[in-house]
This record gives sequence, C-alpha cells and structure tokens, in this order.
Amino acid sequence: MAEKLAIDGGKPVLTRKDFKNWPIIGSDERRLVNEVLDRGIVAGGTAPQVMALEKEWAAYTGAKYCLTTCSGTAALHMALAAVGVGPGDEVITSAFTFLASASCAIHQNAIPVFVDIDPKTFCMDPARLEAAITPRTKAIIPVHIQGCPADLDPILAIARRHSLAMIEDACQAHGAVYKGKKVGTLGDIGTFSLNNFKNLCGGEGGLFITDSEGYLEKGVLIRCFGDEVDEKSKRRVYNASILGYMYRNQELPAALTRAQLLHLDEYNRVRIDNANALTRELAKIAGVIPPFCPPECTHVYFMYNVRFDPKKAGVSCEPRRFRIAVEKALYTEGMLIGQWQTMPVPAQDLFQSKLGYGGTGYPWTINEAKGIHYNYDPRQFPVAQELCDTYTIVHGIHAPNGREHVERMAAAFRKVFSNLDAALKHADDPIYPGADGALYGAG
Ligand SMILES: Cc1ncc(COP(=O)(O)O)c(C=O)c1O
Repeated sequence: MAEKLAIDGGKPVLTRKDFKNWPIIGSDERRLVNEVLDRGIVAGGTAPQVMALEKEWAAYTGAKYCLTTCSGTAALHMALAAVGVGPGDEVITSAFTFLASASCAIHQNAIPVFVDIDPKTFCMDPARLEAAITPRTKAIIPVHIQGCPADLDPILAIARRHSLAMIEDACQAHGAVYKGKKVGTLGDIGTFSLNNFKNLCGGEGGLFITDSEGYLEKGVLIRCFGDEVDEKSKRRVYNASILGYMYRNQELPAALTRAQLLHLDEYNRVRIDNANALTRELAKIAGVIPPFCPPECTHVYFMYNVRFDPKKAGVSCEPRRFRIAVEKALYTEGMLIGQWQTMPVPAQDLFQSKLGYGGTGYPWTINEAKGIHYNYDPRQFPVAQELCDTYTIVHGIHAPNGREHVERMAAAFRKVFSNLDAALKHADDPIYPGADGALYGAG
C-alpha cells in the first residue's frame, strides 16, 4: 500500500530544519569583513576590497577588466549605456528570465524585444533570434538562466553579422563554462549579480567584466555620475562629461564576496554533484523531467529546475494543475519547492500595459509615434509559457547540504509519485505558503 502523504496527515520526509542555510559564513568571511571594520574604510570606487575583488574576479573569469557595481541590474544598465544603446533602440533578450534582463533597456530609454527559449536549456533559442532583429536593434542579451550556459556561438555569430553588441546576463551563472570559457567572457560585456541567493554572494552587488578598454572607461564614468577623474591626482573633478548613475559597490559586500569567491569552485562542485545525484534518481520517475546540461558546458545549478508531465506519469490532468498538485504534496513532505518566474517576462503588466515611466508610454512611444508597433502577446512565447506551466524549483541542493539530503529529496519525489491519486485530490486546495514563490530569505 502507498505510504500516506504528509498532505493527508502522514509523516513528512523532510523538515525545514534539515535544510542548511545559504550563504555559508565561515572564517574567511569573518576575516575579510573584519579587515574592513579594522581598517575603517567602508566605501569608495577605489577602496581596497572593491579593487581587490575586481582583480580577483577578472582573474577568475579570464576577463581583462572588472568593475564592481551595487547590483546586477546596475551592471546590466551600465553595459547598455557603455555600448551606446540609446532612446528608441531595441535590445533583444530572452522571454524566460528575470525582469532586469529587459528593464535595463527601458532604463536606457530603449525597447526590450523578446525571443522564445530553447525547450531543453530554457535559454534564448538562437534559431529564433534573427527574426527579432530590426534596423533599430543595438544589442542582444542572452541570459545564462538558472546556471545553464546559453548557446553563445550562434548568438555571437548573429550579433557580429549584424554589428550588434552582445552583453551576457550571467547574473545566475557564476563559474558556468561554455566550451572551455567562463560565461561572461564571450560577449562584449558580462554581468553578474551578487545578491543573497546567488552562487557568489555579497549580500547585494554586481560585477561587470569586459576585455575592451573603451567599455571599461565608459563603465567607470557611468558607474559614478559620469564624473571625470583627474589623470594625475586620480581625484574626481566634479565635472560630469556624460550622464552617469550612482552604481558603486561598498567594502563590506566586496569583502564578503571575496571570501565567497575563495570557495566558489568548491561550492559549485557540491551543487553539481548534488544536482547530478538528484537527476539520476528523478530520471527514474515517470512524469518527472530533471534539468539538462548542454554538451561541452558546465551548468552551475543556481536553480535546480524540474518539470512535470502528467501524460508520462500516466495521469489525465491539465499540466498546470498537475504541477500545482505535485508541488503542494512535495511542499508538505518538507521540500523547499516552488516556482520562481510564474510567467514569461513579456506577459508581465509592464509590457502588457506599456505604461512606461509613470503612465507616459515612454519609451515605446518613441517608435510607436513613427508607426512601429510593439506587441508583447504572450502567445509569441509558447515554449516559455509551457515551461512556466510545468516547472518548479527544488531548493536546497547547495552546500553544505550533501548527498544524504539529496537522497531524502528523491525519496519525497518517489513517495508523492507513487501516490499521485492522493496528491491530485488536493489540486484545488489553497496554495501553500511558498508553494508558488521564493522560499529563502526575503524575496
Ligand atoms: C537573470 C538575472 N538578471 C539580472 C538580475 C539582477 O540582479 P540584481 O538583483 O543583483 O540587481 C538577476 C537577479 O536575480 C537575475 O536573476
């Protein structure tokens, strides 16, 4: 007889206490953060921790130059400004991503254009890219989503053929590798987030990498109000030469990031080992589709994505309803599980309403006034939509959670999938806290 599910009053397989926290705070974090406190320098574009982090991240990725920023969003916006994206230009990104991959274009008064995704990697589908290019396109932002490298060779070839900048959104993919190169180093500029969930965590923050001295110089200006610095004295002259922003990082987040960077490869290894172990087990369960790692790539599993297929599970149920029912059952088994993005980004109200800045319709009106229409009908992104209906995220595969923990996660899946009839009875119950949202920390 099937074991009674926790959702029906049975004993859960896991409890919240079984999950160890991310990020891991150890002696390196304490040492480097204390260094900041002991030195008494807490901020500054050329402060010691910030400068050291820039050197270390450039060395780690193989990029020539690195700038720290206050967020991944800031790094993306800086990148668009540095490559010369401006009002009315179009910037192409992926339909399944975080809002910032697209809103960074709006921040530059440019217009985001979306491309549907590859059904296996969930990254931009290169086969659909060229159709999205217009005479107004200035840049392409492939996103290495959930830690999986996007297929950059064809994307870069298209970018070069059309003289477009390629900016990698590697905000979720620290240490991921595409054909022997660290992601972020293949395009013109690479960007990373350092927020609390990320594989490389500084609390908040971002990183901007490039091999171009020109983009570096632009980045330095844009990061700090557009203010020029006197060559000789290295002091700001309080004379802005271009429009800039206040996108500097600080010493405490930079110190924390440096400590985390000492362990990045080791912690990524744990994620990869745990992910591979979980994938081996979940692949044995009919109706569960574990994530895919493309050949010649290293996926760093910032998120472990699982999809469900009711037909393959032998159940007659609408896929979205099936996913929600299974998610609830797994959640009550003690899994930290739930969706991240619930819809393709172009389906969000911002794009459906095109209200832009406070209801002005800007920046779309720049081109719509000339008769060019922007259509964000979500039906143009069927692969991203299907993913959003059927996927969930299994949290907790990060270090220091180990193999024994992963084995219990697999056991929770086995338990629910051997009693699907019971799970499906709860499909219409109210959504459980967290079953449809972020689970660690505060959003
Ligand atoms: C794909 C992607 N791009 C950009 C960002 C923005 O990074 P931040 O939150 O540091 O601004 C994130 C953050 O989660 C992200 O996941």
